[in-house]
Parts: sequence; structure tokens; C-alpha cells
Amino acid sequence: MPSTAITLNNGVKIPQLGFGTWRVPAAEAERVVGEAIELGYRHLDTAQMYGNEAGVGAAVRASGLARDELFVTSKLGNGAHAPADALLAFDRTMEALGLEQLDLFLIHWPLPQVGDFVETWTALEEIAASGRCRAIGVSNFQPHHVERLLAETGTVPAVNQIEVHPYFAQDAVRAHNLARGILVEAWSPLAQGTVLGDPVVAAVAAEVGRSASQVVLRWHLQRGDVVFPKSVTPSRMAENLAVFDFTLSDEQMTRITGLDRGGRIGPDPDTFSVLG
Ligand SMILES: NC(=O)c1ccc[n+]([C@@H]2O[C@H](COP(=O)([O-])OP(=O)(O)OC[C@H]3O[C@@H](n4cnc5c(N)ncnc54)[C@H](OP(=O)(O)O)[C@@H]3O)[C@@H](O)[C@H]2O)c1
Repeated sequence: MPSTAITLNNGVKIPQLGFGTWRVPAAEAERVVGEAIELGYRHLDTAQMYGNEAGVGAAVRASGLARDELFVTSKLGNGAHAPADALLAFDRTMEALGLEQLDLFLIHWPLPQVGDFVETWTALEEIAASGRCRAIGVSNFQPHHVERLLAETGTVPAVNQIEVHPYFAQDAVRAHNLARGILVEAWSPLAQGTVLGDPVVAAVAAEVGRSASQVVLRWHLQRGDVVFPKSVTPSRMAENLAVFDFTLSDEQMTRITGLDRGGRIGPDPDTFSVLG
């Protein structure tokens, strides 16, 4: 069954389930992403910092699908926050992808120590106004970063892509974004595989007769977030796509949400300052 679509705050539609490409090596990206598209993924998440945009774009172009059948996201590298650099970096992304138009472009990290994300956002607004990107958003923005953008600029981000999984449910941050019309995208939705051996997840999986990853992805989807699990293993790619023909009960959802222990895997956005 195909993924459901969600309408962003500017009217653009995004498939709720996509394919993540962090740590998909550049040399394998065209083949792996080609397999994902062949299996039915219609939403691809890449970034300048992943180093694999060329392979992702090659797979999109080789797919034979009309461009509007695939939703492609990329993200601005941390070293290109100055507006002039951001505009050049976007050009490089489009060249690497070999596409005329991108669907979604994000500021990858706020880098509050650098302190320039408001200026960076004005460059993304310029890119959106040019028509070369259908929607713009942010990633790893804490509520106070979002508030600053809303106070000092004119465009509400379409999405905020943040770490969310059963061990780090982020309900307060999610609610803050949703109340402002910002869709939440949950990165590392499987907690990079670490949540798949959890006894509570295993118990729910046994109850519904599905795999642990399917149950965790279903939990995300029923909460309304966008997800893009990553796998280079075709059987897992197919498994992660087959999550639209069953549901979890409210009680099963609550048990999984109960696993939250504030367990962030990735960097803290308030202190992360690695340029790249
Ligand atoms: N904005 C950001 O700062 C940010 C940060 C991190 C991630 N992301 C995005 O989010 C995407 C997903 O996050 P992620 O890649 O960190 O982690 P993830 O999707 O939570 O987990 C990926 C790991 O789980 C394994 N896996 C996948 N499906 C499985 C299954 N059905 N059964 C067992 N194991 C399975 C994969 O192994 P194999 O590949 O070996 O099969 C891989 O080791 C990224 O690829 C990227 O697009 C964004």
C-alpha cells in the first residue's frame, strides 16, 4: 500500500514515509536509492554533508518516473551559513543532483554559536522565491530557535527535522512545532536500530504479528510525523515500506511512548557546532 501524503503549510504535499540516506556511501548511493525507488519509496532524504547527492540524483533521473512522482529533500551544509555561501551551496546541490527543482531544502543545524541562522534563513527564502525549491524548512531547531525565526523573518518553516524515536519521544518540542504549523520529521526513527531489540516493542510486534521495525514506524506514522528509515538491505527496505496495512491500538501506542527516557543519540542542537 502506498504511503499517505501530508500537506505542508504552503500547500505542497509530502509522502509521510520516505527513505533516509545518511551513511549510504557515495559509491553505492545510485544503486541503493535505485532499489528503494524500485521497491516503492517516493520520498528521499539526503544532505550536502552526506556526500551522496550525486548518486541520489542519478537514481532519480534513472528511475523513469515523472519528476513530480518523487519528493527529494536536501540540507545546507554547516559550513555554508553565510547567505552568499548558502546560495552557492544550493547551486552545487542542484548540480550534484542533476535536477531542475528540489522539493525541500533545510538548514541542517542551527549552529547557535555561529549565530547566523536568521541570515541563513533569508537565503532559503530567496531560493524558495526563485521557484527552484518548492518548500523550505529547518532541522535540529529547538523551540527557542524556531521562535527567533518566526519573530525575525516572514516565512514559517514547512518542517523541522529532529531526532525522534521511542527512546526520545520529544513530545514538548513536537507540540511546539505543530502549534505553529510546522510539520515534524523524525530522524533516526529506529534509533539507528537500537530500539528494535526492546522487549516492549517485541511484545507489541508479537501481538500484531509484525516486525519490530514495522511497529516502531507505525508508532511514528500514527503520531503524525514524517519518517525516512535508512537501510542498505533490500529485505529491510521492503519491510519498512509495508506499514500501511495495520494499526496499533491506543494502548499499544501508549506502551511504546512509555519507553521515552530522554535518550538522545545524536548531538545536542544547542551545542553542536561542527562545520562541514
Ligand atoms: N537532520 C539530521 O540531523 C539527521 C540526523 C540523522 C539522520 N537523519 C536522516 O534520518 C534518516 C534515518 O536515520 P538513521 O539513518 O540515522 O537511522 P535509522 O533509520 O533509525 O536506522 C538505520 C539503521 O537501522 C538498520 N535497519 C533499518 N531497517 C531495519 C530493519 N527493518 N530491521 C533491522 N534493522 C534495520 C539499518 O541497517 P542496514 O542499513 O545495515 O540495513 C541501519 O543500521 C537518515 O538516513 C537521514 O536521512 C537526519
